[in-house]
Amino acid sequence: MPLASPTADHPLVLVGAGKMGSALLAGWLDGGLDPKAVVVVDPSPPRDSASLLAEAGIAAHAVPPPGVEARVVVLAVKPQIMAEALPGLRSVVGRGTTVLSIAAGTTLASLEAGLGPAAIVRSIPNTPAQVGRGITAAVANPRVDAEGKALVDRLLAAVGEVVWVTDEAMIDAVTAVSGSGPAYVFLLTECLADAAVELGLSPAIAARLARATVEGAGELMHRSDLSPAELRRNVTSPGGTTAAALAILMAEDSMAALMKEAVAAARRRSKELSG
Ligand SMILES: NC(=O)c1ccc[n+]([C@@H]2O[C@H](COP(=O)([O-])OP(=O)(O)OC[C@H]3O[C@@H](n4cnc5c(N)ncnc54)[C@H](OP(=O)(O)O)[C@@H]3O)[C@@H](O)[C@H]2O)c1
Repeated sequence: MPLASPTADHPLVLVGAGKMGSALLAGWLDGGLDPKAVVVVDPSPPRDSASLLAEAGIAAHAVPPPGVEARVVVLAVKPQIMAEALPGLRSVVGRGTTVLSIAAGTTLASLEAGLGPAAIVRSIPNTPAQVGRGITAAVANPRVDAEGKALVDRLLAAVGEVVWVTDEAMIDAVTAVSGSGPAYVFLLTECLADAAVELGLSPAIAARLARATVEGAGELMHRSDLSPAELRRNVTSPGGTTAAALAILMAEDSMAALMKEAVAAARRRSKELSG
């Protein structure tokens, strides 16, 4: 990692080494971050994370060790314990520290209230980060300088794509689209498999067909420069089988309307949870 990266003297302090925290840590270590530049704070890391830490020779601390001033603090605990965890982290946050939160529904204002004046980035990753294929949206408070932003961008890029928004209100929309979005795709897969069973296919074959179709279509989209609409048109011959299905899915008040309604409900819930 280039200059101003975490070092043993000014480490990356990861608070919470659960599913998301350890996915990020695995990405950083793969990307060349020195394990000596990492301090983990988690009173009881789950078994998978504990083996990652043991392999890298990183100890897990119940509370931040004394005398540490972090280059970057990554907050990866559940939102409901954030308020309780923040005051204990003030000791590691100095003038040269950037704080990165990945907690859903935890606003910049509440992070500032818990930590005091600090350079803070609030972000929303999604679960494909666990396989290095996530997308994270981030918003920074005015204390974050260009260097802090670049560092956070590099850290988040270790597990996928990164987009920055300037208006924190957009984080609720992001949560509804990419944060919750993987569940919509999993549901689509379930619905396709159920429909296949209705047509007489065995549940095992139906599940394989649906799963491989969604995986393959996702990978095709990933590797292609074409838009999703172009890719869709490419598999749709006029008067053919796909066109017959799409006539139902693309009818008025059908899939597009349902998706808009679903995403609006997720955004409403995100606002309620962070309110
Ligand atoms: N999972 C996702 O897909 C996802 C996506 C986007 C954002 N996020 C955000 O990521 C954050 C972490 O989610 P997760 O799914 O990774 O949760 P998780 O697996 O429960 O990980 C949280 C870890 O923090 C530990 N912890 C509890 N109290 C602590 C404290 N005071 N100090 C340090 N560590 C403490 C937990 O230990 P115990 O289990 O013993 O409590 C656990 O090991 C959440 O804020 C969530 O909103 C998650």
